[in-house]
Amino acid sequence: MSRIVYVNGVFLPEAEATVSIFDRGFLMADAVYEVTAVVEGKLIDFDGHVRRLGRSLSELGMENPLDADDLLGLHREIVERNVLEEGLVYLQITRGVADRDFAYPEAATPTVVLFTQVKPLSENDQAKTGIRVVSVDDQRWGRRDIKTVQLLYPSMAKMEARARGADDAWLVQDGLVTEGTSNNAYIVKGGAIITRHLSNDILHGITRAAVLRYARERQMKIEERPFSIEEAQAADEAFITAASTFVMPVVAIDGKILGDGTPGPVARRLRAIYLDEGRKAAI
Ligand code: PDD
Repeated sequence: MSRIVYVNGVFLPEAEATVSIFDRGFLMADAVYEVTAVVEGKLIDFDGHVRRLGRSLSELGMENPLDADDLLGLHREIVERNVLEEGLVYLQITRGVADRDFAYPEAATPTVVLFTQVKPLSENDQAKTGIRVVSVDDQRWGRRDIKTVQLLYPSMAKMEARARGADDAWLVQDGLVTEGTSNNAYIVKGGAIITRHLSNDILHGITRAAVLRYARERQMKIEERPFSIEEAQAADEAFITAASTFVMPVVAIDGKILGDGTPGPVARRLRAIYLDEGRKAAI
């Protein structure tokens, strides 16, 4: 099945979509992106993704070529053209095409690309069993708050996790977990939800913000602070969040099984709340 994708103002079949070899996204990873979940053909947490995109662009001194209405229109159109019921919309904006140079070009027109991916999100087999994570040294750059396409190290960490018989990696810096390869990391102890505080060390997850808001509204206890792998292994339960997984239970950390090895009650409850509230607020 061939998708319809979007490149610089045009919707076209994916096989016909091209970007220049001089695009700075290709040559320098000089590009930012967003991934928005779609359930029942509607966009989840869309405003949050638009706000974070604006921030990523401005931190890199890039003009935002599209306002919030343009972005919503493009997202809706790509969902419609691909008859996407459930899955993801990927959006990437690069600084554009220029002769190769480390300095930013003075005038370049940003490249804008969107495509869809079909993915089971609301009913997902992994959510029923939970995933296994292993710890990997966090060797990424220091501005993880900017959602750039420099994803080679997270890819390497994911491959290391697979080689070690796990599903994903939790990245560790100075003995403390920063986040997952493409998700935010949480543990639960004595009913409290513990997740690293926001800083340049992690991506400010849109799903994280929503889940913590829903948890606070329900008087659940939240501690925003770092935790170690040892503390996580002694926790009652653990989970991750991302637009691509929603709330996903973690059942083993570096081979240590948490609780009875099945998704914990807090993770299951937060997943149900997020699905319910996300659907209600979807646009
Ligand atoms: N990744 N941390 C990292 C490093 C991420 O790459 C992501 C998302 C998150 C969660 O952010 P959000 O809740 O806004 O999706 C945290 C996306 C899904 C990806 O790269 O596919």
